[in-house]
Amino acid sequence: MTDEQAPERLQKVLARAGYGSRRVCEDLIEDGRVTIDGVVATLGDKIDAQRARIEVDGALAPVAPGLVHYLFNKPGGVVTTASDPQGRTTVVSFFPETPRIFPVGRLDLHTEGLLIVTNDGALAHDLMHPSKGVDKEYLVQVTGDPSPATVRRLREGVDLEDGRTAPAKVSRVAEGVLRITIHEGRNRQVRRMCDQVGHPVLRLVRTRIGGIGDASLKPGEYRTLSVKELQKLASAIAAGTQGSPHSDTLPIGPNDAEEVNE
Ligand code: URA
Repeated sequence: MTDEQAPERLQKVLARAGYGSRRVCEDLIEDGRVTIDGVVATLGDKIDAQRARIEVDGALAPVAPGLVHYLFNKPGGVVTTASDPQGRTTVVSFFPETPRIFPVGRLDLHTEGLLIVTNDGALAHDLMHPSKGVDKEYLVQVTGDPSPATVRRLREGVDLEDGRTAPAKVSRVAEGVLRITIHEGRNRQVRRMCDQVGHPVLRLVRTRIGGIGDASLKPGEYRTLSVKELQKLASAIAAGTQGSPHSDTLPIGPNDAEEVNE
């Protein structure tokens, strides 16, 4: 693919990206819901889809040709880097060599669950930006059984060495199992929060990112994110925060916890 693309009609580019038929995309433009590099688009505008920043309803639209967006279920023991000097299995090794992709953010070596993998630098940048505060939901198996008072402490914020954590959604879903939703992306945050309240983590699984979950995706599997899911993510980014519902499934059962040594 060359860098220079002939400008294309905006509705054609939006339709290709999955926003509906050209007619539907024309309506989006006419209703003033589409911007090109921050300026409200008008019907007839042409763009270089490779370079222009297109937003629909304030949410970044992934319109550049060749972009791929995957949802991956990371198994435990896999590193979230492109290469590992110690020769451990990497997230990238689960994917074809081309196009070159990278994980958005990181999960600890022993953390399992959902990770977005893409070659979309703009989306990755937005998703990782601390000010965007996209919710991430975790199921957490801990030692012992946290009391209601402990759950409240986690919810309200606990003091870590890099400062107090922001209010989180926390609920006890079974004996020794918490569901925690945070929007900060601090290093090892969930593990450190649980350590701090005296219930070290035994197993940590990310179950949702910005409202996107998939209980049917097995560890080591990935699938393409749908346009609807991409729009959901972009809206979550645009909103800065979103009230994603807690997931209904419970991949951590009382009997399948594993001791994890970090
Ligand atoms: N919090 C953690 O402690 N570890 C992760 O991998 C993700 C969130």
